[in-house]
Amino acid sequence: MKVKLENLAKKFGEVIAVDNLSLDVREKEFLILLGSSGCGKTTALRCIAGLETPDEGKIYIGNKLVNGLPPGKRDVAMVFQSYALYPHMTVFDNLAYPLKVRRSQKDEIKRRVKGTAELLEIENLLGRKPSQLSGGQAQRVALGRAIIREPRVFLMDEPLASLDAKLRAYMRAELKKLQKDLGVTTIYVTHDQVEAMTMGDRVAVMSQGKLMQVGSSEELYNYPRNLFVAGFIGSPSMNFIDVIFETRSDKFFLRGKDFQIELPRRLGEMALNNAKDFKVLLGIRPEHMVIGNHKGHYTEDTSIKAEIYVVEPLGRDVLVNLRLGDLTLRVLTPPPFGAKMGDNIQLSLNTAKIHMFDRKTEQSLLVTKQA
Ligand SMILES: Nc1ncnc2c1ncn2[C@@H]1O[C@H](COP(=O)(O)OP(=O)(O)OP(=O)(O)O)[C@@H](O)[C@H]1O
Ligand SMILES: [Mg+2]
Repeated sequence: MKVKLENLAKKFGEVIAVDNLSLDVREKEFLILLGSSGCGKTTALRCIAGLETPDEGKIYIGNKLVNGLPPGKRDVAMVFQSYALYPHMTVFDNLAYPLKVRRSQKDEIKRRVKGTAELLEIENLLGRKPSQLSGGQAQRVALGRAIIREPRVFLMDEPLASLDAKLRAYMRAELKKLQKDLGVTTIYVTHDQVEAMTMGDRVAVMSQGKLMQVGSSEELYNYPRNLFVAGFIGSPSMNFIDVIFETRSDKFFLRGKDFQIELPRRLGEMALNNAKDFKVLLGIRPEHMVIGNHKGHYTEDTSIKAEIYVVEPLGRDVLVNLRLGDLTLRVLTPPPFGAKMGDNIQLSLNTAKIHMFDRKTEQSLLVTKQA
């Protein structure tokens, strides 16, 4: 079932929770709404569920406009961060509850509880009360209660947030598999970037009620359309440097305080097409720089002189904080890393991986792909 939001808006007094949000969720898609706390994710989800009335905009489920329908008639199931299981009921009764409310036959209820419990591997827990379950088990029961209704759409609001890191990673994979097995369109809210990038078919990034970009993980990482997405996606986050964009004798350059980088022609031409100002922001991810003067991919004239500020070993990589004038740059480099604090080094950029942004509009100057 498709879900379509058209210019959705919701205010609480002066607070604009959702700001002109338009979004197309595809049939059977696992779509993630990602954004930091307070950006309007829950509000958007509650509008779709019918728990909140939008001030403006249209909501379609399938081809049907559902603005006028009460929550019970929308045929969506919502899963919350807190499991909200009935404490006095057994797991069986918790699962059966949505069907009892619908006055399903006893045999039918038994059959579907059994099927759902098998799917979630909680058959052996059916006789227990919620207080006798671990966090992960309780979360499965809560999921089961949503699944058993066989809704047209799942709405999930940070369902894994209260689990510990290890269990969360496990449930992440389980839930992704389950969503594909069931083939039910799912809108999943999270502020966890890793969850978003790993679980979703596509990720919709929100900031202050507005949609910043929607695309696959790969698109968001490689082609961020604006400064917000560039800085939000990827960890450790992208470095930004104020530079001047110049063209000289048919070549393209980015000039900083003490360095100059020649841009690959393809990027230079794209930026020239889009740039309204010669003052731009250069973006480069920590994993796209190398310490040392490297030729080839990292051409000689991209080398920058910098000083090592702090070295943070992360296990698989080493995160090196560099000082470049009053700027701090972060570089990921493989261990072992010999240099120490205070050492002067050369830094090379992979120029093919450079991003450029308009300082005023904060839009990318290098967008080729439209999500
Ligand atoms: N019932 C309400 N009354 C007043 N303001 C509200 C209400 N619900 C949400 N808000 C405000 O609307 C904005 C968006 O809230 P929302 O709960 O949608 O954010 P969120 O993205 O889900 O955040 P989180 O990640 O913290 O759950 C916030 O500024 C919040 O304070
Ligand atoms: Mg929320």
